[in-house]
Amino acid sequence: MAGGAIATGEGVGANAPRNVWAGILSTLFAAFGGILFGYDTGVISGVQTMKDWLCTFGKRNSVTGVCAITSSQQSLVVSILSAGTFFGALFAAPAADLLGRRWSVVLAVLIFAAGVAMQTAATELPLFVVGRVFAGWGVGMVSMLVPMYQSECSPKWIRGAVVSGYQWAITIGLLVAAVINNATKDNASHSAWRIPIAIQFIWGFILATGMVLLPESPRWLIKKERDEDAARALSRLISLPPDHPEVQGELDEIRVSFQHEKELGESSYLDCFRPTHNKILLRTLTGIFIQAWQQLTGINFIFYYGTVFFKNSGIQNPFLITIATNIINVFMTLPGMWGVEKFGRRRLLLVGAIGMCVCEFLVAIIGVTISTSNTAGQKVLIAFVCIYIAFFASTWGPVAWVITGEIFPLNVRAKAMSLSVASNWLWNFGIGYATPYLVNKEPGSAGLEAKVFFIWGSTCAGCFLFTYFCVPETKGLSLEQIDILYQNTTPMRSVSYRRQLKRDGVELVVGSHGGPHGKHDSTSEHEKV
Ligand code: BGC
Repeated sequence: MAGGAIATGEGVGANAPRNVWAGILSTLFAAFGGILFGYDTGVISGVQTMKDWLCTFGKRNSVTGVCAITSSQQSLVVSILSAGTFFGALFAAPAADLLGRRWSVVLAVLIFAAGVAMQTAATELPLFVVGRVFAGWGVGMVSMLVPMYQSECSPKWIRGAVVSGYQWAITIGLLVAAVINNATKDNASHSAWRIPIAIQFIWGFILATGMVLLPESPRWLIKKERDEDAARALSRLISLPPDHPEVQGELDEIRVSFQHEKELGESSYLDCFRPTHNKILLRTLTGIFIQAWQQLTGINFIFYYGTVFFKNSGIQNPFLITIATNIINVFMTLPGMWGVEKFGRRRLLLVGAIGMCVCEFLVAIIGVTISTSNTAGQKVLIAFVCIYIAFFASTWGPVAWVITGEIFPLNVRAKAMSLSVASNWLWNFGIGYATPYLVNKEPGSAGLEAKVFFIWGSTCAGCFLFTYFCVPETKGLSLEQIDILYQNTTPMRSVSYRRQLKRDGVELVVGSHGGPHGKHDSTSEHEKV
């Protein structure tokens, strides 16, 4: 077939399960980047409240003897971290296109390690802050590169679960940071904060070493016209010889799809916002907004301000609270990893939005109707917060990353993904920054307290509407089939179109208008990377 490849047949690994496991394990390993992400964000919020850290970088009050940093210094530390991650995510795009997905992760780890070294060595705030910029930059890069690498390298039937593994690693990183912070926080020396910070060298070392050993993304190699390397990389991922027809067939499909995109011209950032036949504009905005909505669920309100909030509810041990919320977050991500392949992306996002919305409205209503001395009532309130976290962890936590990793065509994938991930960090910062002003009772703040959950409940209703109108069902489709789905249907009709694509198989051809489009045939499904 001229210019085309048939995505049909029994498929890679369909007959020999061991073939697929090599690829799955490789891409699952990359999830280790999530540990870097979760641990770094978790560790810094704890470190900033440690006595020795405050006495090293702040000033001791001569009357009370208490050490503190000024509000402006604190907001500098907080916002610098976000600035690093935001620009790191944006910088990851040119790096990923130029150096490849794998070596960009290694570069990110080097930048991250430089930042960790500066923070560990610092005894003055400026060096600590510069260290935060570097470490944040590395984390921002990793947060975009890992899901991209995983999406491009894992078999389509399990891609969602593999990328969800990245979210699982984020939650584990957050939990480990909470435990280590708690173990060292009362040390009367710099070791209180130096140990939790320096431990990050270990995470960086493991991730970088693993990435050096893993194969490069075959899709990137095709983009770079390194076809032989692409065949070798794919053959390693699926344990078949490079000249095996299944390897060649799949490479053909990636090539056809990419060739077409290339014919339309070299893509710039502006191209991410063009309303093309391929619905690039819709796809870019979907990526940017799904990350924004994920932050707007209010999850980081719990992780950043939960301690204070729960304390007001009568629970006195903040460590217990942090550990409890983190444990729920870790364990409830597991049903999400299973559910994303069983029920699909759209359904999980819709159910998660409803579940979170109901829980948050109930928390708000209970919070405004009972007094803080009503311990039974406060416990019910806490129970609903925990159920809310469970809904997040099993739906929006992982699925937002899954969607971001798979909805972009190859020619704009790095750019559009980096814009989406940067949006996550921007909203993360904005919400973190605004929350004290919304919640606190001080003059100049809105003093919403538990009423803030009315806002999060409403934003979760927004999550539902956004998903309903904008997020297509992409479960079990190859990245190239997702392209076809976008060209031929709308997110609202995607469930049945996807079913049809899966049932009939699809032939990728360069059509009369030059675009690859789906042409159904009646051959069976192809299980491929
Ligand atoms: C979010 C983070 C959040 C974490 C909690 C991630 O998907 O992007 O902002 O802290 O989940 O598990």
